[in-house]
Amino acid sequence: MKEKLDECGNGRRTFLKACSLFLTSLIGIAYGIPLIRAFINPALQKTVISSSGLVEVGNIQNCKVNVPRKVAIKDSRNDAWTKYPETVIGAVWVVRGEDDKITAFSVICPHLGCGIDWDKDSGRFVCPCHDSYFDIKGGILSGPSPRTMDTLETDIKEGKLFVRYQKMKLGIAEKIPG
Ligand code: FES
Repeated sequence: MKEKLDECGNGRRTFLKACSLFLTSLIGIAYGIPLIRAFINPALQKTVISSSGLVEVGNIQNCKVNVPRKVAIKDSRNDAWTKYPETVIGAVWVVRGEDDKITAFSVICPHLGCGIDWDKDSGRFVCPCHDSYFDIKGGILSGPSPRTMDTLETDIKEGKLFVRYQKMKLGIAEKIPG
């Protein structure tokens, strides 16, 4: 009889232990998931795909007709857990056309994202990675680039040029932010 009572007590203790372990695990998961997510999430975020708005890049008097100028885009930048208040987030080619119109092109090649250079001698933009060539208006002359150079939104206020910096998806014919 005593043995039976001991067995019964042991069984209850084991059951209570299992319940307690289960509840403790549930509480641990309930608290742990948001904590882990808060810790990891910043590292998984894409950083610097665009400026926070139109950013000033300089005086338009410095732009001569058909002489592209490469200018840095500075803005605040979030890099995982760190916020940099004013830093270079990208660059653009600024071109004043013969019609006096100012255009800003992303320096990022639409093919696979290499930096596009200006070749003064041939008067063309060139991507050195896979030899894509573009004319001064950003049109494709040759090479694997699936689209023209990406133009960016600009504004001119009191002689100063502002550009909205934006990265675009690579390797596709459509110009899509991302
Ligand atoms: S990345 Fe520019 S041509 Fe390939």
